[in-house]
Amino acid sequence: MEVVTGIERPDLEAECREAFRGNWPEFVFHDAITKKYIDRTHLYFPRLDILLLDQGRVLAGGWGVALSWDGSLTDLPEGYDGALERAVEGHEAGQSVNTLCLMAIAVSSEQKRRGLAAAVITALRERGAEQQLVNVIAPVRPTLKPQYPLATMERFASWRRLDGQHLDPWVRTHLRMGAKILGTAARSQVIRGSVADWEQWTGMAFPDSGEYVVPGALGLVHIDRDADQGVYEEDNLWIQHISLE
Ligand SMILES: CC(C)(COP(=O)(O)OP(=O)(O)OC[C@H]1O[C@@H](n2cnc3c(N)ncnc32)[C@H](O)[C@@H]1OP(=O)(O)O)[C@@H](O)C(=O)NCCC(=O)NCCS
Repeated sequence: MEVVTGIERPDLEAECREAFRGNWPEFVFHDAITKKYIDRTHLYFPRLDILLLDQGRVLAGGWGVALSWDGSLTDLPEGYDGALERAVEGHEAGQSVNTLCLMAIAVSSEQKRRGLAAAVITALRERGAEQQLVNVIAPVRPTLKPQYPLATMERFASWRRLDGQHLDPWVRTHLRMGAKILGTAARSQVIRGSVADWEQWTGMAFPDSGEYVVPGALGLVHIDRDADQGVYEEDNLWIQHISLE
């Protein structure tokens, strides 16, 4: 397998979009903070945006950002959005960085369950280490959580299988690598749109105001027809990998 940097291979962009985009529900692509920072993120942290190739074919990919974190729970960024903001604003302010924050990892459909996600994490960690990023954290979006939209993230995080392993497969991958759960990343992503936006993103109708279960959402979407607004506040789980220090 070959590890390449996304920016070195713009020719693979269409293949990546095809391989990865269907992995997430449409609404996650409409987070205002992500829209504000995403282009600068890829510009400022190109070495932390990688693809795993096998004979030229994209198997998996992932990206992260570099930011400053003092190692305490209170100094964790406010989830995914907060990490993007801290990384980009910190970079522009010339702040020194010590932490790799893993933002997203995806494996193409036919390559899942082969341990490739761990290979992506390892490759990103190696690149982070080259830049003296001694801490590794991630605002993880547990892949099984959409099946339990009524459970709080705290409750979900405490669930284990009979064999003692975590119930969530994606969380298991991290924990098997020696990582630990730090706690809930509350309001990790906040997505707002008009009712028509939400109907388009989800393919559902929202006939009156109230809470809705939406496919792919980790929690509920709140629809307010009078204000013509839908709001989704997604909690994630902060996970910390073994420090390199
Ligand atoms: C989450 C993801 C990156 C894991 O990649 P992977 O290389 O398949 O991970 P692993 O091989 O380490 O598998 C981890 C566990 O997930 C399970 N798993 C993987 N794909 C699965 C699927 N489609 N359905 C159910 N379980 C799945 C594996 O069986 C394994 O379970 P185990 O602990 O009992 O062995 C991948 O499924 C993916 O791309 N998902 C969509 C994007 C996403 O949600 N990314 C994470 C948030 S950024």
